[in-house]
Amino acid sequence: MTHLEHLTPRRIVAVFLVLALCVASAAASWALGRSTSDHVGAAPAGRVATADLTADLVSNVAYQQALVAAPSGKPKVTVIGTGGTIAGVANDRGSFTNYRAGQIPIADLVDDLRPEIEAVAEVETIQFGNKGSGGYTIAEFHALTLAVEKALATSDGVVVTSGTDTMEEFAYWLDLTVQSPKPVVMTGAMRPTAAGTVDGPGVIGADGPANLYNAITLAGSRVTTCFGAVLMLGDEFHAARDVTKTSSYRMDTFQTRELGVLGWIDGTNIKVGRAPARVATCDNPQRWNTPFDLSKIAATDLPRTEIIFGYQQAGGEGITGFADAGVKGIVTAGTGAGGISSAQSAARTAAVAKGVVFLSTTRTGSGSVYGGTTGSVIAGDDLLPQKARLLLMLSLAYAGGDVAKVRTWVSTIGNPEWDTVSSSAGTPPGQLKPAA
Ligand code: SIN
Repeated sequence: MTHLEHLTPRRIVAVFLVLALCVASAAASWALGRSTSDHVGAAPAGRVATADLTADLVSNVAYQQALVAAPSGKPKVTVIGTGGTIAGVANDRGSFTNYRAGQIPIADLVDDLRPEIEAVAEVETIQFGNKGSGGYTIAEFHALTLAVEKALATSDGVVVTSGTDTMEEFAYWLDLTVQSPKPVVMTGAMRPTAAGTVDGPGVIGADGPANLYNAITLAGSRVTTCFGAVLMLGDEFHAARDVTKTSSYRMDTFQTRELGVLGWIDGTNIKVGRAPARVATCDNPQRWNTPFDLSKIAATDLPRTEIIFGYQQAGGEGITGFADAGVKGIVTAGTGAGGISSAQSAARTAAVAKGVVFLSTTRTGSGSVYGGTTGSVIAGDDLLPQKARLLLMLSLAYAGGDVAKVRTWVSTIGNPEWDTVSSSAGTPPGQLKPAA
């Protein structure tokens, strides 16, 4: 039993935050122990700002550090390029919105950061693809996870660059599927990098170079060890599960609406304000990991899962059509607390009879959807529809037809939830729902 499991539910949420600071502290520590497990890694970085630690929690830091296989020298960071605006070429230096995404090789983008980046990390690159983010398939997502895992076997952290349009989906996918607790940092840009040609002059005010530099700094610092995947843009980093793109063109497009940023990077200083809940299970790989180990299944085992939008007098044909096409899971982005129209409701009932599993979310952009404690309509809590769809797809792939298992995973993987009356996940009232 770990220190964490001795904590009362009342204290555990506070511990999530403070433990994050512990991990940050551990990552910043220059005196790291070795152990037989390489589950957690930590390495020296720039200065890391943390709150004072209580004696109680310092013992948790010691526990974390007992797991650390301390590297020596500069951290090794692998940058995996997939394209997007950061690899974009604009017509001219003043063209922020008119450009071709996915043109510049990732090796060139990293080379443009030399020699300065060499003081931060030893960097190697992998060109996974070079196209717009929306062009990636789920099969390619599956391959990307395996590429990240492979890179993490020899690197201290991985940066993945992508277009920003679906970057939050890239990030959440990696958050759900990467089995290593080492840092995974997504980044990209809102403005293209070069003008004219791939090696042309820089676009005025291009954000890509600074974002890439900061992402490598963050990954190399190991501050986000056990955070899962994070998304870094504009000096801020966010939890993959909760962040979303909020504007088509604004530079500060990425927001975590109700929870806020995890932290920020000011030069060599990395500030951690809070951490994802899963940090609390850092010392227990079995609890930290999700069930979704993609080395165990093929991309073709991932079932088709789609999203249906709710609106005034919405027709049910979308649901019926998907069900007839063999779709196994449907996320509804409903109105308010998840409402769907009468026609959609009737179509959903018919689709459930055919074996389709539904996840109910809200189109509002924030807030939770509750209820549906039995059957094949599951509440998606505060997951955005596009995130819920990925979790439903993975849950269906691993549950082997057991809808109760899908429900448990959907309701326990992610942010902690308190059930004050009765439990939808087998938890006594007043207790935190257990990790899956
Ligand atoms: C894309 O998502 O590939 C294009 C938009 C962007 O990178 O910002």
